[in-house]
This record gives sequence, structure tokens and C-alpha cells, in this order.
Amino acid sequence: MSDEGPSGWGAPLHEAVLDATAVGAGTRLLDLGCGTGLLARAAAGRGAAVTGVDLDDGAVEQAAAAVPEGTFLVRHAQDPPPGPFDVVAAVQLLMHVADPVAVLHRAGRVGAVVAATVWGRDSECDLRVLQEALAPRRPQRPAAVSEPARLRAMAERAGLVVERLDEVVVPFDYADEDELLRPLLATPVARAAVQRSGADAVRDSVLEAVESFGTGDGGYRLENLFRVLVARPRVSGG
Ligand SMILES: C[S@@+](CC[C@H](N)C(=O)[O-])C[C@H]1O[C@@H](n2cnc3c(N)ncnc32)[C@H](O)[C@@H]1O
Repeated sequence: MSDEGPSGWGAPLHEAVLDATAVGAGTRLLDLGCGTGLLARAAAGRGAAVTGVDLDDGAVEQAAAAVPEGTFLVRHAQDPPPGPFDVVAAVQLLMHVADPVAVLHRAGRVGAVVAATVWGRDSECDLRVLQEALAPRRPQRPAAVSEPARLRAMAERAGLVVERLDEVVVPFDYADEDELLRPLLATPVARAAVQRSGADAVRDSVLEAVESFGTGDGGYRLENLFRVLVARPRVSGG
């Protein structure tokens, strides 16, 4: 699964993470892979003290502008600031890092609670129909973290005790064809499809793929499942 979606799609997922970890006034939150600071903004809105890290310096700059009261650093998620933090979040990060277990392990070293979100399996996400329309013959490589048992096992290998593994269904709403097609056709996989088959054919096959997701008013709704893992560092000894 890619992370593309209509603008603002992540808000329900961010709220689910903040609710599951009881983020509120005074919570010290570290946001790993903070991107442009959307989770940090929502957390700061609840009164949390926010630190964010991301490898992308442009994203870090945007996050700092969006959350002036926060602290944002260009830094690898595997090398978090020492904290300590009440909550360490990794929203839609684990599928992008080479060693998710190491990221979870380091998160548990600096935080009392670790929350990580991942896409569900392709079969649980309507967005797969877009990928199938654009690259019908490309074999799907399911992300290991999308399998709940594997995600749990990774957290356990990272020295965490899993408290919850919630499922959150997030609707991706598109007002009309243009809102769906414009960003989609700008993606590398769509550009490759256009080169192979031509723009009209790609457009037609995407619209055919989403036909059954029409909302009746010219728009579309694709529902995608995400998993929200909440864990705590294992207390060793005594
Ligand atoms: C899909 S985006 C998610 C952004 C944000 N967490 C959100 O939910 O809106 C993944 C983010 O992880 C960042 N990233 C990828 N690998 C990273 C790493 N090793 N260390 C820190 N950030 C990383 C990317 O730059 C990108 O901003």
C-alpha cells in the first residue's frame, strides 16, 4: 500500500492514536517520522508537549511551521532524542524503515508507551483496486507489518509488551473524478501505466475499478483498514 490519499485522510487515524494513548494536557509526545506535523498539531491542540523527528528536512521545516510550540529535528527514527517521553508514536512509519524492530526497540527505550500504526492487508483496504488498475500484472509484495501476528511478534522482539492491537477503518473520500484522478495520475506507477497504455486507457481502467465505490453524487469513498498497536517496554528482572 502507498500512503497516498485525499488531503486530510490521516486525521481519524491520528485521533485514534492520541485516544488510545490518552494524550492530553502535559503529555510528552515524541512523533517518529513526523512528516509535516499533522499528528503533532493534533497532539499540541490537546495540550501535549511535542517533539518530532523525520529524515526529510523539508517535512521537518513544515512541521515546525505548523506547530511553533513543538521541537522538530532532522533525525533517524532509530536515533531518537533521549527524552524521556510519555508516548512515542510511529504513525505510518514502520513500512518505510529497514529495521522496524530496531525502531520499536529504541522507541521503548525513550518512551513509557509506544504506539505504531500500519496499513491493513491489501484485502482489507479498498485502495488496492487503484493499484490493481494501474499495475495489474505487478506482483503484490505484502508488507510484513500488515500481518497482525507478525506485527505483534516484531513488537515482542523489540522488548515490548503489546497492550492493544486496534483496527481503525478510515474512509478516503473523493468529491469527484478529478479529485481522485489528478493526484493519482501524478504517481510514478500511474505515469508508467500511461507510458505503457496511454492516458485514456489508464483513466478508463481506474474509473471502472472504482465504479462500485461511487457515492451517488459523483464522488467516491474507499475504506481502508489500519492497525494501531499500543505497547509498553517489558520490565525486566524482579
Ligand atoms: C507515510 S509518512 C507518515 C508521516 C506522518 N507520520 C503522518 O502520519 O502524517 C512517513 C514519514 O516517515 C519518514 N521517514 C521514513 N524513514 C524514516 C526514518 N528512518 N527516520 C525518520 N523518518 C523517516 C518520511 O520522511 C515520512 O515523512
